[in-house]
Amino acid sequence: MKLTIFNGSPKLQRGNTDVMLEHFTAGFHRESGNEFQIFKLNQFASPAEAVRRFEEAELVLLAFPLYTYAMPGGVKSFIETLQPLCGKCSDKKLAFLVQYGFREAIHARPLEKYLVTVSRILGCEYLGTIIKGGCDGLAAGRGNGNKGTLKGIYNIGVSFGKTGLLNPDELAAYSAPEFEKQHSRFIMNIILKLINRFYWGAALKKNGVTIAESYAKPYEDERRG
Ligand SMILES: Cc1cc2nc3c(=O)[nH]c(=O)nc-3n(C[C@H](O)[C@H](O)[C@H](O)COP(=O)(O)O)c2cc1C
Repeated sequence: MKLTIFNGSPKLQRGNTDVMLEHFTAGFHRESGNEFQIFKLNQFASPAEAVRRFEEAELVLLAFPLYTYAMPGGVKSFIETLQPLCGKCSDKKLAFLVQYGFREAIHARPLEKYLVTVSRILGCEYLGTIIKGGCDGLAAGRGNGNKGTLKGIYNIGVSFGKTGLLNPDELAAYSAPEFEKQHSRFIMNIILKLINRFYWGAALKKNGVTIAESYAKPYEDERRG
């Protein structure tokens, strides 16, 4: 199996996407005969070169960090540069890896839908999206869950190396938790209130805003009429 990987992190130094890919490919490579090559999107000489590499590939993994519930500009630009290939990629299979700071999988679910749509518009077979939060400290070696995160992505690499597929059950177990726990939501609510009162309080006061007004939800109020 020959896998072409695009890493869309804009970082020049070794980042968290690199660390995830190192472990994924170690698992993928365990199957003899499997080959892979990794391209960093920010190191292509031109967008045309990135498109050419994509055109040559049959099995593709696009890996990147979540940026503001979406993706780095370079990833968006890469996807848009593929526009001339829309509907012409029936020879290709496309998988994604999205890693990020917040722990819960829910943060990447809207983006996942977009990636399904991108695959459909290109005409590729969509293999799935590996979603993993809590990855902020991977490259720096910080964080409690790193061992589990890296072992998990290695195991997904092993399965993928054997089957060429991403197993939805394995992905769901790896992405957990889906939502923030009730008690951490409760604690965050208290922390946010304290931050608003003592940290932002001065700025609110200066701008003539009361603490109560800082919780206003004008769009929600408008929707309710
Ligand atoms: C501009 C920017 C936006 C980000 N947006 C989010 C976000 O919406 N949610 C989140 O959980 N993490 C967010 N992060 C954190 C990154 O997803 C996280 O640090 C990731 O592991 C970085 O991967 P990299 O080292 O491969 O670039 C953001 C980071 C940056 C710099």
